[in-house]
Amino acid sequence: MEEQEKYIEALIRLHRGLERQGPGDPDFSDYIIEQIPDLPSDLRIADIGCGAGAGALILAKKYSSKVRAVDFSREFLDQMMDQAKQEGLEHLIEPIECDMGKLDWELGSIDLLWSEGAAYNITFEGALECWRPLMATSGIVVISEMNYFSNDVPEIIIQYMKNVYPGIKTEAKNVDLIISSGFDVLAVHRLPSKAWWENYYNPLIKKITAFKDTKDEVMQAVIHETEEEIEFFKEYHEYYGYTFYIMKNVK
Ligand SMILES: C[S@@+](CC[C@H](N)C(=O)[O-])C[C@H]1O[C@@H](n2cnc3c(N)ncnc32)[C@H](O)[C@@H]1O
Repeated sequence: MEEQEKYIEALIRLHRGLERQGPGDPDFSDYIIEQIPDLPSDLRIADIGCGAGAGALILAKKYSSKVRAVDFSREFLDQMMDQAKQEGLEHLIEPIECDMGKLDWELGSIDLLWSEGAAYNITFEGALECWRPLMATSGIVVISEMNYFSNDVPEIIIQYMKNVYPGIKTEAKNVDLIISSGFDVLAVHRLPSKAWWENYYNPLIKKITAFKDTKDEVMQAVIHETEEEIEFFKEYHEYYGYTFYIMKNVK
């Protein structure tokens, strides 16, 4: 196995069994969904980078519509389907194992596209460019993206992000990108930092504790980086975090 593959495998193992693979919150998702304008009755929904299905399951329940749920991790997709079975939603979730940057779907075939904490994998602008052709006229896209909350960010954070997320931008820059990509911005909302702790970092810290004595060097490296990430967020959360963008395809 290549080093990068081993790293991803350890990262997936660390996140296995967690409800979420990134920061988010079901009540906050409901709040975002409430702001989505009326959509056609025969809705076509996609959750891209769905992980274990935190968003896909909420959307399927809320709209009683089928959700195409895309992730490149078979393990997360299987976990999502186990949960879907438990919630009686199996018939509404279509797991799709593929690269989010290579979706060969029919153009204009999605009415609501949701992507939480995942677009950064192909860069925010890359995601907008790749996914917009898939959107129906006036289709709605909801993306949560990690960004700076202002232009005034301490140098220590800028240096840290050079390694962690070199493509990070400010909210203002992301709004410009959305508009220049052919969308109207309907709303912009920051995910409260509480959602990072309660639904993501605290459960993740428990998993880290369970792996603490591992002899697997790749897992040790993943744990070290994750602990660093958590400490960094604890110190500097007022400067960066996830923002949800609700946008409408103007075409
Ligand atoms: C931070 S997690 C977010 C998962 C989920 N949306 C959530 O909020 O719990 C990012 C997800 O993107 C997936 N991912 C990363 N790169 C991908 C790619 N190129 N294609 C498909 N999925 C990808 C990962 O496997 C992971 O499940």
